[in-house]
Amino acid sequence: MSRTLFVTTALPYANGSFHIGHIMEYIQADIWVRAMRMAGHTVHFVGADDTHGAPIMLKAEAEGITPKELVARIAAERPQYLQGFHIEFDHWHSTDSAENVELSQDIYRKLRDAGLINTREIEQFYDPVKGMFLADRYIKGECPKCHAKDQYGDSCEVCGAVYAPTDLIEPYSTLTKARPILKTSEHYFFQLSDPRCVQFLQEWTTGSNAQGNKHLQAEVLAKTREWLGSGDEKANLGDWDISRDAPYFGIEIPDAPGKYFYVWLDAPVGYLASLKSYCTKVGLDYEALIDPNSTTEQVHFIGKDIVYFHALFWPATLKFSGRKTPDQLNVHGFITVSGEKMSKSRGTGISPLRYLEIGMNAEWMRYYIAAKLNARVEDIDFNPDDFIARVNSDLVGKYVNIASRAANFISKYFEGQLSYPHDAATLSQHWVQAADRIRSDLEAREFGRAIREIMAHADQINQAFDAAQPWLIAKTLAEADASQRLALQHICSAALAGFKALSVMLTPILPTLAQRVALELFGQTKSFVWADAGVLPQQINPFKHLMQRVEPGMLDNLFEPSADVAEAPAPAALIPGGEPLAPTISIDDFVKIDLRVALIVNCEQVEGSTKLLRLTLDVGEGRLRNVFSGIKSAYTPEQLIGRLTVVVANLAPRKMKFGVSEGMVLAASHFDEKVDTGIYVLDPASGAKPGMRIH
Ligand code: MSP
Ligand code: ZN
Repeated sequence: MSRTLFVTTALPYANGSFHIGHIMEYIQADIWVRAMRMAGHTVHFVGADDTHGAPIMLKAEAEGITPKELVARIAAERPQYLQGFHIEFDHWHSTDSAENVELSQDIYRKLRDAGLINTREIEQFYDPVKGMFLADRYIKGECPKCHAKDQYGDSCEVCGAVYAPTDLIEPYSTLTKARPILKTSEHYFFQLSDPRCVQFLQEWTTGSNAQGNKHLQAEVLAKTREWLGSGDEKANLGDWDISRDAPYFGIEIPDAPGKYFYVWLDAPVGYLASLKSYCTKVGLDYEALIDPNSTTEQVHFIGKDIVYFHALFWPATLKFSGRKTPDQLNVHGFITVSGEKMSKSRGTGISPLRYLEIGMNAEWMRYYIAAKLNARVEDIDFNPDDFIARVNSDLVGKYVNIASRAANFISKYFEGQLSYPHDAATLSQHWVQAADRIRSDLEAREFGRAIREIMAHADQINQAFDAAQPWLIAKTLAEADASQRLALQHICSAALAGFKALSVMLTPILPTLAQRVALELFGQTKSFVWADAGVLPQQINPFKHLMQRVEPGMLDNLFEPSADVAEAPAPAALIPGGEPLAPTISIDDFVKIDLRVALIVNCEQVEGSTKLLRLTLDVGEGRLRNVFSGIKSAYTPEQLIGRLTVVVANLAPRKMKFGVSEGMVLAASHFDEKVDTGIYVLDPASGAKPGMRIH
């Protein structure tokens, strides 16, 4: 039966770029969405930026721009990450949108009409200089217990004590250093302690959706039990403070001048706002999708840190504003890098953008993350050696290899025609069943298990291929009889049928690779669907290279510089007798320079120039480049022709008196032109090939 799904990922804060944790969440959701679509279900997959709150307001202020400008700048960056990692949201929106204002205010009014909003005065620290109430994170002071200085308003990082900001000794505002004063203000509360809410949440958290899947994973349910209390125990759930005082970047609370919704009230409403904006764009019926009686399944992918909001506040907000409640919350753990929590300052973070910029394949990352994920709330670790091993040995070595080995025989000896023995139906059946298991693994978000099974199939295919020793048959094919010829064709055909089936199974994980396999190898213009796994291919096109292995050196470029390196003072010291070092640059600066090995195909004098030689270079591009170089005083053309050297290959072409120069050859010399200690063209060690990049 075909299902309709409304799927979201957590809305990222709009005060920073995506990090690898975001990308991991999107990859998980994207794989799931693709698997569901392949099974014929309709999926509306939307995201948005979470734009409101004090941190964004203050960050914009510090940069001298408006919050809207900051949000717009971050929004503009999003597509390159999403496209780069083949993450296909149908729509990306913003919580700072007309839809979100309207929906949030409507939800609030409904909650109020249901008698679930009340107000009360609370006393809070206030920065008199800034004219603003202070959240705990903007207050520091001396720990009341161990007397450590500069501890935050909620807990001490030194002794672990937990306290209220008012307990701090000598408190100060981190915004202005002013001593905060206590001030009262009226706050709005969502009465989650109301028996109706408690009862609803006890039902919802333990409930299942129409598919028979539990709303919550077991460990998430256990967490909500701690918060809610179960059975006769009294609920521990307090009322939820949903208002903030101006100045605040957010949505105004109706009939409450100067009061704004706390960001976590309007943030999840952004899921609906994005869906609504998407529906308007493509002409879908939004109301029908989110009607409480609709069969649309509402599925949220989130990380473990925001369960409280999604398993308690959000379902209650929806329920008591008369809306459809979520059908499934899919919670994942955190990604760490080499066992460490990500931290830019400690130099362990992976920048997703740098990953793409240095030419690493997005599908390696998708594969690796998928291989590590399961349906539980477990942290996963990005480990460089493990990454290389899984991509090179498994993905390329086991899976991609099948095609390159088998396809060549078929193209060379059988004009691309495949052939199967009489029991081909059994083979087809085998792959139908295998694909069916993978489909249900992926649906259950057991991605790691799916990949283990796929690799076990790849092993079997490779073993059968090796055992049949097709290369021996091929060697003596001239003398071989028809049955041997047929045997060779059968062996290779079976391997290719297996390769096709595995490609179908890997489609949600490796969408672009699978699409190339479908089109280039099997000549199929439509992307794979699950049913293709059992359709034995009848012919192939010649095999084209499908996927590179990871070069271990690439991983070195991936990591952020560590804090001490990044903060090192610019070197001022002179190399004895030489040129002062240029100011420190980051690896980001360095990777902008594309250095390549070049073959000097030809070299000639430049008429009218006392300095220049004209070089014709092969930089491995299938064309030759013309480069002028000021090395005439040191070399004759004959000395250079046939040599390898290094060229800056992405330097903007420069028009010179004698023609256009398309790059710059690297050479060592004294920085002071007047001191002639020679010019030395760079030489890569032997073995390097034109076009290789220098990292
Ligand atoms: N803006 C809120 C979510 C509002 S949802 C209505 C938020 N934003 S966030 O940018 O901090 O996080 C977005 C998502 O990324 C969350 O699901 C969070 O759990 C996830 N991750 C943040 N760091 C992560 C890792 N290191 N690993 C995996 N996911 C992580 O929270
Ligand atoms: Zn302390």
